[in-house]
Amino acid sequence: MFTARSAFSAIGRRAFSVSAQQNSKVTVLGAAGGIGQPLSLLLKLNPRVSELALYDIRGGPGVAADISHVNTKSKVTGYDAVPEQLKAALEGADIVLIPAGVPRKPGMTRDDLFKTNASIVRDLAKAAANHAPNAKLLIISNPVNSTVPITAEVFKSKGVYNPKRLFGVTTLDVVRASKFISEIQGTDPANEEVTVIGGHSGVTIVPLLSQSNHPSIDGETREALVKRIQFGGDEVVEAKGGAGSATLSMAFAGSRMADSLLRASYGETGIFEPAFVQSPLYKDDGCEFFSSRIELGPEGVKEIHPVGKVSKYEEGLIATALKDLATNIKKAWHLVPHSF
Ligand code: NAD
Ligand code: LMR
Repeated sequence: MFTARSAFSAIGRRAFSVSAQQNSKVTVLGAAGGIGQPLSLLLKLNPRVSELALYDIRGGPGVAADISHVNTKSKVTGYDAVPEQLKAALEGADIVLIPAGVPRKPGMTRDDLFKTNASIVRDLAKAAANHAPNAKLLIISNPVNSTVPITAEVFKSKGVYNPKRLFGVTTLDVVRASKFISEIQGTDPANEEVTVIGGHSGVTIVPLLSQSNHPSIDGETREALVKRIQFGGDEVVEAKGGAGSATLSMAFAGSRMADSLLRASYGETGIFEPAFVQSPLYKDDGCEFFSSRIELGPEGVKEIHPVGKVSKYEEGLIATALKDLATNIKKAWHLVPHSF
């Protein structure tokens, strides 16, 4: 398991052990933002990345110049907001991460960001479909429950959609879950793995504590822990007092997801990450996209694992999640027909 403590020692070790053939181009769209900058820095430390393309509507080249002085082997290039530069940033990319868009302020839900971010993601997805149709796409911009279905529709409209390569990044939910459960149990978060399923907002986030190392947590402790995992994002939004939402923990989570995909693409097996993907699990409930435990392979999604045995309490959480999630997905589909 990839944790804060293991991240840098692992990266350090791999700097010497990763073979020379592991050369990947990774592109960040929104690279000068609160997430984009630390995410780009962490990617610069990843020895599997040989080329880092940093694009933003403002500030991409500045961030790139700064990060390019870090003495790891990858080449870093910054791109300005003109179509030829966006094209150049995307061409040949193996992985494209999209943290472009506005973050929440206190009192807002992620769904409130739809107005602004849906069209930003749609337009960047169009560019990705045109110039990097085979890249694995990692959508960070909120509301993830809607921006991922929007991206899928854009790719379908261009005839290049492959559901194995599109991921809504929900890694931060499992990072939080393992940290929060360890705080309650007095354990090392490196040894805590909690499967989190559903979507990425409020009650659509469903931690399966019954499948964790501590299935007996119940009563008020369980109630509080589940709520904290579901609303961990709000904790950060409130603490930042109007200056944005989680950026550093998100950069860590995004970097972990990208690294897992890179390792899987070079043939490493047994790599599991949760992610919001096109999924058969709850399609009949109106949720064509769903986050669950995904096994990664060279193509991206290798296998979507079933949710498995859950408690009665968790059945209730899932039922509530599905209602909101179906609404978020439907909202995305309403935008799309008017978009092309
Ligand atoms: P930010 O405002 O600090 O940065 C966003 C960046 O996107 C800015 O640099 C901006 O210039 C850029 N941008 C805007 N429109 C663009 C476009 N069309 N093309 C390229 N770049 C563009 O915001 P942030 O804190 O980095 O958050 C970014 C997004 O990530 C938000 O929507 C936030 O809600 C989301 N987020 C998701 C998760 C998650 O778990 N998936 C976690 C945290 C934040
Ligand atoms: C998070 O979970 O921290 C992000 O989705 C940002 C937010 O708006 O809470």
